[in-house]
Amino acid sequence: MRIIRVNLKDDAYNIYIKYNLFTDIAKYIKNLNIGNFAYILTSKKIYNLYKREIAKSFDTISHKIITVPDGEKAKSKYWLFYVIDFLSKNEELRKKIYIICLGGGSVGDLGGFIASIYKRGIPYIQVPTTLLSQIDASIGGKTAINLKYAKNILGTFYQPKAVFIDPLFLQTLSKEQLIDGISEAIKYAVIKNKKLFNFLCKNYQKILDLNPEYIVQLISECVKIKAKVVELDEKEKKGIRTILNFGHTFAHALESSFSYKKISHGKAVAIGMVFAAKLSYLLKKCTIDTLRQLLYVIKLYNLPTRIKFNFSSVYKSLVCYDKKFISGNIRMVLINKIGKVQIMESVSPSKIKQCLIDF
Ligand SMILES: NC(=O)c1ccc[n+]([C@@H]2O[C@H](COP(=O)([O-])OP(=O)(O)OC[C@H]3O[C@@H](n4cnc5c(N)ncnc54)[C@H](O)[C@@H]3O)[C@@H](O)[C@H]2O)c1
Ligand SMILES: [Zn+2]
Repeated sequence: MRIIRVNLKDDAYNIYIKYNLFTDIAKYIKNLNIGNFAYILTSKKIYNLYKREIAKSFDTISHKIITVPDGEKAKSKYWLFYVIDFLSKNEELRKKIYIICLGGGSVGDLGGFIASIYKRGIPYIQVPTTLLSQIDASIGGKTAINLKYAKNILGTFYQPKAVFIDPLFLQTLSKEQLIDGISEAIKYAVIKNKKLFNFLCKNYQKILDLNPEYIVQLISECVKIKAKVVELDEKEKKGIRTILNFGHTFAHALESSFSYKKISHGKAVAIGMVFAAKLSYLLKKCTIDTLRQLLYVIKLYNLPTRIKFNFSSVYKSLVCYDKKFISGNIRMVLINKIGKVQIMESVSPSKIKQCLIDF
C-alpha cells in the first residue's frame, strides 16, 4: 500500500492507494476513530454498480446510505438540503456521525461541503471513484456546490480525515471519462515532473489498459504533486496553488462558452494546455520543442488539441469576466519547459487576442 501524507499544521491526513483497497476499507476507517455512525454518500450509478461490494465492505460499520443524482446535478441547493435533512431527521443524530463520500468529484464536493457546515463541522472521508477525483478533487479540501448563475460559488476549505484510493473502481469508467482524468495527469507532469511526463509517454498503453502496477504508479505520482502544492498553500493565499490552474483559464472560458454542455472538463483542459503553451511560445517563455512535446502526449491519449469555438464569447470570458482579471491584464500560468511553469500576472489582452486568432 502507498501512503502519502498531506502535512498540514492542523488537519494532516493520509492518502491510501492500493488496488482492491475497498475490500478492507472498514478496518482502516475504524482505526481512524472519527465516529460511530457513517453516512455513505454516493451517486445512483455507483450504488447500482457496486451495491454488493458496498454492503460487504461496510458490514462491520454502522451506516446508512444516501444516494444523490449522478454528476454535477448533485452539487445543487436542492441536494444539499436533501442530504442535510436526511442527516438531521434520523435517530443517529445523538451519535458521533461522519460522512463517507463514495463517488466522483461531484459527490466529494457535495459531501465535503455538507461535512464542513453540518453542526459546524463533522469528519468526512473521501473514497474517489473516477480518475479525476482520485488524482485531484478528493485531495486538498476544496468543497463546493453550484448556484444558478455560477459553478463552485458556495464552498469551503475543509480537509477530509483520510482519502482511500482504489484504482479498481476505474474499470467501470468509460474510455472518455478515463482520458478526461489523464488530461489532469498530463497537467501535473507538465507543471512539476518531467519524469512523470516521460512515464506517461512511454507507458500509455499500459495506463489505458489500467494495468494495476502502472495505474497505481501514475495515481501516486499525481497525488504526491497535489499534496505538496496543498501543503505549501492550503487556502490558496500564497499564489502557489495557482500553478494547478495550468490550462484551466482557457478551459473555463471554453466550457462557459459552451454552457458546460458540449465539452467535458478534461478535454477543455487539454485544449487549454495547448493554448497556454502556444501563448508561452508567443511570449518567448518556451521553445517550439516544448510545445511539440505537449502536443505529442495530448494526441497520444486521444485528447483534443483544438476545437471550433465562438471567438468573441471565449475572448470576452478570458479578458473581461475572468475572476483573475486585474487592471486590464490577465493572470496566466505559462510553461517554460516540461516540468516547469511560471505564473505571469500581466499578460496583455492584445497577446491573448493574437494567440486566439492563431489558435
Ligand atoms: N474539490 C476540488 O478540488 C475539485 C477539483 C477538480 C474537480 N472538482 C469537481 O469535480 C467534479 C467532477 O468530478 P468527476 O470528473 O469525478 O465526475 P463526477 O463526479 O461528476 O462523475 C461523473 C459521472 O461518472 C460516474 N462515475 C463515478 N465513478 C464511476 C465509476 N467508478 N464507474 C462508472 N461511473 C462512475 C458518476 O456517477 C457520474 O455519472 C466537478 O464538479 C468539479 O467541479 C473538484
Ligand atoms: Zn481541472
